Amino acid sequence: MLDHPHATPEAPCLDERALARALSGRHLIGGRLVPAGSGKTFPIHNPATRQEVAQAALGDAADVDAAVENAATAQKSWAKLPARKRGALVARCAELISAHVEELARLIALETGKALRTESRVEANTVADILSFYGGLGSELKGESVPFAPDVLSVTVREPLGVVGAIIPWNVPMLLMALKIAPALVAGNTVVVKSAEEAPLAVLRICELMNRILPPGCFNMLSGFGPECGAPLVAHPKVRKVTFTGSAEVGRIVSRTAAEKLVPVTLELGGKSPMLVFADCDFDKTVAGAITSMRFTRQGQSCTAASRIYVERPIFARFVDALAARVDAMVMGDPLDEKTDIGTIISQEQFDKVRRYIDEGRASEGAGTRACSRLPQDAALREGLFIQPHIFTDLPNSSRLVQEEIFGPVTCVFPFDDAQAVLAAANDSEYGLAASIWTNNLRIGLDLAHRLEAGLVQINQNLVVQANLSYGGVKSSGLGKEASLESMLEHFTHKKTIMVNYG
Ligand code: NAI
Ligand code: MG
Repeated sequence: MLDHPHATPEAPCLDERALARALSGRHLIGGRLVPAGSGKTFPIHNPATRQEVAQAALGDAADVDAAVENAATAQKSWAKLPARKRGALVARCAELISAHVEELARLIALETGKALRTESRVEANTVADILSFYGGLGSELKGESVPFAPDVLSVTVREPLGVVGAIIPWNVPMLLMALKIAPALVAGNTVVVKSAEEAPLAVLRICELMNRILPPGCFNMLSGFGPECGAPLVAHPKVRKVTFTGSAEVGRIVSRTAAEKLVPVTLELGGKSPMLVFADCDFDKTVAGAITSMRFTRQGQSCTAASRIYVERPIFARFVDALAARVDAMVMGDPLDEKTDIGTIISQEQFDKVRRYIDEGRASEGAGTRACSRLPQDAALREGLFIQPHIFTDLPNSSRLVQEEIFGPVTCVFPFDDAQAVLAAANDSEYGLAASIWTNNLRIGLDLAHRLEAGLVQINQNLVVQANLSYGGVKSSGLGKEASLESMLEHFTHKKTIMVNYG
């Protein structure tokens, strides 16, 4: 057990372990860091060493109720603030987060094992960017005037939905949370976030920082497990909107509960995103693009990871060799070391799951396997949850590695002979989140971009979520869009019609 938690530091704190201890054992409800009603906690581990770094408050239905009641009370006055004022407060939060990027980056690296330079710092900066983007959108909460009749003024106004329940995963928890809370708050809602059990610390710190600026009760945070804390949040009668990012399996459960209550849901679920590489592509740029696309620096723990790479046959063998060589050159090691490109897998559970897929791929008859990069040699990391990136070739389409989301550093590469065949293969998936096409023939590229079943298609690049660009999947990848103006208007407000007969 850890020492009794002390007060959280006022200034940015670059001692991530001290900060983790200071945040221990707390939810944030009604503007205050408070223990779970039950007093119970659960341990948080550093996946690079498997040592305990903190205890998190173990949330249950009573904690959910306390947080939602606070949020419901706060929402009444929050919604009365002019929209631009709400936006201005969220923009001030962006500045405060900017000042804390380095500490947040270190803290998220500690709890998730994501490399500081390639992942954690990037994520912390993106959070500030998303808050600043939405902070400027208050004046976009506009309605319309409708030409109903000559002496009737008919207008629509955008109103907030009320209390938003947000459930987030562990892979990019700060960023994925920002995509939910920023538009929800600017639109006049208040929020209760349930953090992922593996990574509750950095998001709690963000919540604490933002609570220095926002009125109490607007932004509340609970830690805890899915069935005990997430499910009661979704089911709470005063939660009038649910937004979820995580597995398709839990997305369906969340969606069913929300349907019973008749409240809207946004779901950002899994993916099995294809990358289509044509022989006329810029070869080196595309190989580098495959590293980014597969999110190797995040150990492939991304819903948009290019886990199916289709390469036109004339360059197939050369491409696989070049990709393997490039991944080989990546440095796997201590997430907090600036030299590290690739950190760890998040948890023992995910580690075991990914290893099972790799073992299955290796056992698949005729399959080619390349295990790349070197496991860290540092004795301090001997227990760490490191997995070598694996590149598979010659797997049958029926293989689980080709069909299922692995959420680890495992990609499958296939040769193809013509655009129609590769389109059919790419679309032959239950998922439809993201896709990329690499070619200098824009006729082919744009044709495929229109015909790929995915929410986000990129040609000759494969960036992660960006503020201002609509993001969200089709098929089993989800419902609704995030990251854009549209997401705020369509998913965090409803349109009310008001008519005045002055005849
Ligand atoms: P998960 O879907 O179980 O967890 C995501 C969030 O949902 C967590 O906060 C969890 O506590 C919560 N949750 C779990 N059960 C719940 C319930 N019954 N009601 C309400 N909330 C609940 O994902 P998990 O177990 O962490 O990972 C399993 C797989 O899911 C991964 O291997 C990956 O394939 C996929 N995944 C996809 C993500 C994405 O970004 N689309 C993120 C994380 C996982
Ligand atoms: Mg789960």
